[in-house]
Amino acid sequence: MGAGSNDGGRGSSGSRFLVLGIESSCDETAACVLAAEVDLGGGLSAGAPDGGVTGARHGEIISHVVRSQMQEHAPFGGVVPELAARAHVVHLDQIIARTLTEAGKTLHDMDVVAVTAGPGLIGGVLVGLTTAKALSAVSGKPLIGINHLEAHALSVRLEAQVPFPYLLLLISGGHSQILQVRGVGDYRLWGSTIDDALGEAFDKVAKMLGLGYPGGPVVEQAAAGGDPVRFRFPRPLLDNPGGRYRDSLDFSFSGLKTAVRLAAQQASPLSEQDVRDICAGFQASVTDILARRCQQALQRFRTETGRENPDLVIAGGVAANRAIFSALEAVAGEQGARVIVPSPFLCTDNGAMVAWAGAERHALGQSDGLDLAARARWPLESDDMTVRS
Ligand code: KG4
Ligand code: ZN
Repeated sequence: MGAGSNDGGRGSSGSRFLVLGIESSCDETAACVLAAEVDLGGGLSAGAPDGGVTGARHGEIISHVVRSQMQEHAPFGGVVPELAARAHVVHLDQIIARTLTEAGKTLHDMDVVAVTAGPGLIGGVLVGLTTAKALSAVSGKPLIGINHLEAHALSVRLEAQVPFPYLLLLISGGHSQILQVRGVGDYRLWGSTIDDALGEAFDKVAKMLGLGYPGGPVVEQAAAGGDPVRFRFPRPLLDNPGGRYRDSLDFSFSGLKTAVRLAAQQASPLSEQDVRDICAGFQASVTDILARRCQQALQRFRTETGRENPDLVIAGGVAANRAIFSALEAVAGEQGARVIVPSPFLCTDNGAMVAWAGAERHALGQSDGLDLAARARWPLESDDMTVRS
């Protein structure tokens, strides 16, 4: 299959096209070659009973390569933007070359180049976007700039038939949001963190307990052997049911993190069991917060959409947490909802989700000019998220 094997992906039946996806907005340097298929009879509305805009219909990952910078950042307990940008410069070209080689393709076989254009650490975004522009310029293949959050939001559709609209809980190192995903480029932000992102809270708790980086997996592991009720940490914004956040879907994790720090200081020196109990208490608090917010969001979703059996998609690195998944599955089950979590490799940052978002947009006719700007901030509700065809 090559560039000449289709009509450019514009809506004819069974049309297949190849997308090169590039991701470099945080601490993963990643690329993917993805084959996508446009829906029969045109890209619009299929699979979206209420009319949400649907792009590509099927995706097949031909190859994908991710290089994590975890080791570079581990000594600092978090991502250092300057180091991240430098590492992307060093590695991105090779990652793309390897991805193409593993797919048995060349740049000229691609039909479109999709790249994260924001939001994220601006140095890294610039590296990826500049590289993608160069590839687009030399090959003549169209460029599509992708919002990293949209890539997370749509990634579930690469693996499963999930029609629009659905509810999305996006919980990563940089974001904690509840969104209604109504179609490609059509998002409603219902709630978000007013301070720290959830993954960031996991990372900071791990750092203060000397557990290493990234914090999520180690805190989850420690929590599994701990007593979740020995330390009763606050549930910020939920503990005050009469307060202004009663009906809000916002989160706050900063006070929780401070409470963990104080408890750790008071119980110091910490035994291994103390650490496990603190982790279990922290995770129990997080789980309660997410369960309550998802319960509220599902009720609102059902009221607004009339859907009896809504889909709740969880994405982002924290979605890998089994305790959180179980709690949300229980809440969703009570409301007749289905919980869907993309495969772990798709939850953390990767090139496949960028390629897939590119496929959805290419199928709808979008392409961007070489003057496309990199953006450190880029809310999903921005006007320019609308598909440009
Ligand atoms: O989506 P991601 O790979 O990168 C961002 O876009 O931020 O998410 C990384 C975050 C880190 O903060 C990491 O600690 C967290 O996801 N994480 C977890 C787990 N695995 C990764 N948090 C809780 N439990 C986990 N099992
Ligand atoms: Zn991400």
